[in-house]
Amino acid sequence: MVMEVIEILCEVSKLIYKNVKDLAGTDDAAGDFGRGAGGDISRNIDIIAEKTVLDYLKEINFDCIVLGEECGRVELSKNSKGFVIMDAIDGSANAVRGVPFFCSSLAFATENKLSSITDGVIMNLSNGDMYWASKGKGAFLNELKIKVYDKEPIYKIIGINTSGASEQLMNKLYPVFEKHNHIRHFGANALEMALFARGLLDIFIDLRDKIRIQDIAAGYIIVKEAGGLLLDADLNPLDSDLSYETRISFIAAANQKIIDDVISQIKK
Ligand code: IPD
Ligand code: CA
Repeated sequence: MVMEVIEILCEVSKLIYKNVKDLAGTDDAAGDFGRGAGGDISRNIDIIAEKTVLDYLKEINFDCIVLGEECGRVELSKNSKGFVIMDAIDGSANAVRGVPFFCSSLAFATENKLSSITDGVIMNLSNGDMYWASKGKGAFLNELKIKVYDKEPIYKIIGINTSGASEQLMNKLYPVFEKHNHIRHFGANALEMALFARGLLDIFIDLRDKIRIQDIAAGYIIVKEAGGLLLDADLNPLDSDLSYETRISFIAAANQKIIDDVISQIKK
């Protein structure tokens, strides 16, 4: 039986959950394996999760090239159908400390471009919730269809990634902090995009020029299929190549109104 790409990504996400769910916050999660392809220290939990994916894709003979955050580019076939963009643990610091907010992020792209992503799965590894989407087919949380929150919320919740942000960027963002009371940053970019797609955040902003393709690939298709706008820092539709050097800034917003409301407050 031939499996659909989305079935493969969902299946392997469940295996990651099975293999790492009891590791978070333990000494075993933390072991240092040197710097991975994405530039951060690879932890034992990252390595176990990536191995789960690579082993499974090999086992089912999936013809692809894996672009992993730790393992780098791994060509599993000479007749590749496309790229599996893998952040096997997003929110590694949370996972190692045991903060229950970390996930896996797996996407499939047919070409060397974000806009060619056809499928994506983000698995919340602290509770097994699976967010998934395929191009043109909508976005889901487990079996439930999800949509961004497009009404006027009682509490406007604004996600802003401020981790390692420069003083200059923080100064530009200051008016947003001054005006809005409910600013959030949870520490796993992909899962924050999933929360946004599900309608729990009204906008999610990362203007640090730091985020890697692996952190954003599955979120890209899930946000779009949930009806969200996904823009770059110049407010153009977000796109980029899939290279390891690429770093991105982006805005995921429920509608133009909230972009006008929040983004207009950011200093030029
Ligand atoms: C990190 C998380 C974090 C973001 C960092 C990423 P990692 O991914 O997404 O929220 O602020 O820029 O590197 O290293 O835990 O896979
Ligand atoms: Ca990541």
